[in-house]
Parts: sequence; C-alpha cells; structure tokens
Amino acid sequence: MGGNVFGTIFTVTTFGESHGPACGAVVDGCPAGLPLTLEDIARELRRRRPGGGGPSTTRFEADEPEVLSGIFEGKTLGTPIAIIIRNTSGRSADYEELRDAYRPGHADWTWEAKYGLRDYRGGGRSSGRETAGRVAAGAVAKVFLGRYGINIQSWTSEAAGIEVPGPGDGGFDLAEAETNPLRVPHREKAREIAEKIEALRREGDSAGGTVSCKVTGLPPGLGEPVFGKLDARIAEAMLSLGAAKGIEFGAGFSAAYGRGSELNDCPIPAGEGSGAVPPGHFRSLPPGVPALAYGSNNAGGVLGGISTGMPLEFKTAFKPVPSIGQNQKTVGRDGKIRDLCIRGRHDVCIAPRAGPVVEAMTALVLADLLLMSLPGACFKLDP
Ligand SMILES: Cc1cc2nc3c(=O)[nH]c(=O)nc-3n(C[C@H](O)[C@H](O)[C@H](O)COP(=O)(O)O)c2cc1C
Repeated sequence: MGGNVFGTIFTVTTFGESHGPACGAVVDGCPAGLPLTLEDIARELRRRRPGGGGPSTTRFEADEPEVLSGIFEGKTLGTPIAIIIRNTSGRSADYEELRDAYRPGHADWTWEAKYGLRDYRGGGRSSGRETAGRVAAGAVAKVFLGRYGINIQSWTSEAAGIEVPGPGDGGFDLAEAETNPLRVPHREKAREIAEKIEALRREGDSAGGTVSCKVTGLPPGLGEPVFGKLDARIAEAMLSLGAAKGIEFGAGFSAAYGRGSELNDCPIPAGEGSGAVPPGHFRSLPPGVPALAYGSNNAGGVLGGISTGMPLEFKTAFKPVPSIGQNQKTVGRDGKIRDLCIRGRHDVCIAPRAGPVVEAMTALVLADLLLMSLPGACFKLDP
C-alpha cells in the first residue's frame, strides 16, 4: 500500500529520498485560474530551509523549486502541478555506518522490518528532507486560501524545555517569529533558547519542542463529520510529520482537568465577539440559521468537527531529534549489540523548522475541506 498521497479533492503526492537526486510534490485538484508564481513557492521553501544555523542542521540546500507542469502564464491550469526541488548538498559518506546499524529513536529498523530494505543515506524518505515537497505543495494551497482571506501563522511555543509566552502575554510579537531562526515570537526567550540549543549542540544532544498554529478568516462550516472532522483531519496531517508525538486544540489536554462551566464557549450575538468571522463571509449560512460568535475559544475553533468561525488554534509536540552525537547502544544488522555515535548533519531541535511544515499541512487540509464546501469552485475560480 502506498502512503504518499494526501487529500481527497485537493491532493498532494510527495516523492524523493533525502540523498536522492531530488524531492518534490505533485498537486492535483487545484482549481484553474489561480494566479501562482514560482516565488510563491520559493518563499515558503526559504522559510523551511535548513542551514540557517541555530537549531538547524548545517546541511545547506538552495531549495530552489522548478515547476514542471500545471502553471501557464502565471495561472494554474487545473492540471497536475509538478514541483521538483533538487538535492544538492547530500554527503552520503556520513551515513555509511548506518548501513549496518539501527539508530535509536529513528525509523531505520521499522522501515527495514516492513520493506526488507531501506535507503540508509540520511534516513531516505523518513528524513525531514521529505517535508520540502509538503511545503511546496502547501504554498499552492496557501495562495488558494489567501483568495478567501484565510491566513495561517505558526510559531515556536516551546523549545529545549523553555516555554514562550503566548498571545496576550507580555513580549509576544509574531513579527519576531519571522526574523529569528528559532521562529520564537519573543526576543528574550529567543535568546535564552538559542543559548540552550547551542549548549546541546556542543554536548552532541538534542531537544524537543512545540509549534503553535493559528488560522484566521476561516468561515463556519468546514469539516466533514464524522470521519472527516476538521480536527481529525488536522491531527492526521500533523501526526504524519516525522517526530510529531501529539496535538492539542484550544485548551487541549488541560480541558481534561477543567469543568464545563469554565470551558464551554458560550455563543454570543454576531459582531459582539472578537475573532469570529463576520456574517456575510464568502460561505453564507443556510436560511434560518442566525449568525453568531463565541465569547471564548477553548474549543480552538472547532465544535463537532466543524469550524465555528473563531480562529482555529492548535499546538503540535515534537520529540527531540533522534540522531545525536553521543555514544548510544544499539543493535546491528548482525543482531549483536554495538555502540553508535551518529555523524552527519542533524537538527538539534525540530520545532523551529517544523513551523512552515505545520502551516503547509494545515493549508492542504483546509484547501481540501474548502473545496468540499464550495463545489462550484472545484474546476474554475470566479475571476
Ligand atoms: C522538519 C523536520 C526535520 C527533521 N530533522 C531531523 C534530523 O536532522 N535528524 C533526525 O534524526 N531526525 C530528524 N527529523 C525527525 C525524523 O524524521 C523522525 O524522527 C523519524 O522519521 C522517525 O519518525 P518518528 O519520530 O515520527 O517515529 C526531522 C523531522 C522533521 C519534521
């Protein structure tokens, strides 16, 4: 069974191994007539690109996309959009030792247990490099969603055990997240985390972190209960990322310890709340259904698997990077215990690099669900 296709109407197939000639994506189901430039895709790839120092691997990839099909004279054709990103900085020799050893915390043995063989160079397709194709495809979805005023923004909310103050707390500044390689929206915390990560790098160790994501402009009504619920689709998208170990929406896990009287988001008349999509947005309500907003957003913008019109808010947790430069015990292909100290270029903390990938996967889910809600938009966009 292949597991490389994602989506129902707006679909993406990613391809490529970490040290193969290229990776990329084929996007199908994107409506015709969408203005789309190479720069729209390149911009998102630059945000994901490693080699910026700080928490990321020193493997530097130019990550310049080439579009092979699906765009003509600056607009989508409604045909498959094939995007290729060449791998230019593979140093496969660094991984020679992994030919015969299974990395703790990585997918080496499970991959082999399933397929009988694996591309051991950089983890093959279980590498973070695979996410470049997702980001390229997500860039297309983002442009499509932008037409409807839907905006997706992520930031690092915790890294290396240091929590970053959230929106509304002192010092939180989203613009800051776009200017430091850690994608931390808080200048002081960014400095603190950078120091911790540098210390971990020197020790040959790694750390986990969380990425928060907020979607604004989402109308009420997106999500297909019961198996295609908005939160279920987002969770599937996030947990398809390497090293992702958990997700929570709105109040999240803390809701398990709270009370209904504290956590219910009470409806209020439309226009009185803050953050709700105003009535008259592009997706109109069925006749007889009043427009409303919510006085709080503990649900994270989704009730019954359907968007409420409030911002969609969730947080994804990433475990520490498994490839570390410390001596660890493992088992080799000969079945015997052996020592392993991993060489090669690896991230220290995934969360900062995962932000743009989280946004891309979110965009892919939302573009798909939006097209399910707006069947008229499937083939051709209104001018
Ligand atoms: C953006 C991104 C970058 C990653 N970078 C690395 C890395 O440099 N080294 C590494 O060992 N794992 C890295 N990973 C994590 C592995 O891909 C992941 O841990 C591995 O495939 C095992 O899967 P699992 O942790 O989901 O079980 C990265 C993941 C992502 C999403």
